[in-house]
Amino acid sequence: MPVLHGVQEALGHVPQQAVAQIAQALNLSRAEVHGVLTYYHHFRSEPPKGPVLQVCRAEACRSVGGEQLLSHAQHCGAHCEVEPVYCLGLCAMAPAVMLEGQPYGRMSSAKLDELLDDVGG
Ligand code: FES
Repeated sequence: MPVLHGVQEALGHVPQQAVAQIAQALNLSRAEVHGVLTYYHHFRSEPPKGPVLQVCRAEACRSVGGEQLLSHAQHCGAHCEVEPVYCLGLCAMAPAVMLEGQPYGRMSSAKLDELLDDVGG
């Protein structure tokens, strides 16, 4: 998993061509590496289509509008890759999002639109 995280962090995704190399380096089968990649939704095999926006769907965020925020993100027409996630560690500042690795708390649809405008999403 740390290797896959590292590759995705460096390249934005884990290319299919890297699976064989990772498997060989870790003495695993390609099927085992592929299984991990496809099991965890966090991993992408294709580059993201724009800035990556993670929207928290866990309980603290859900209780203060996280689902509406996710729906807004998915339908606002921004050119970003929206990923639902479960807890960003900002529960006390719910609802929370992470945009290009930067966390933001107490998010609203209006604030999210501003953030997305700033990154060109
Ligand atoms: Fe959303 Fe923890 S529940 S950041």
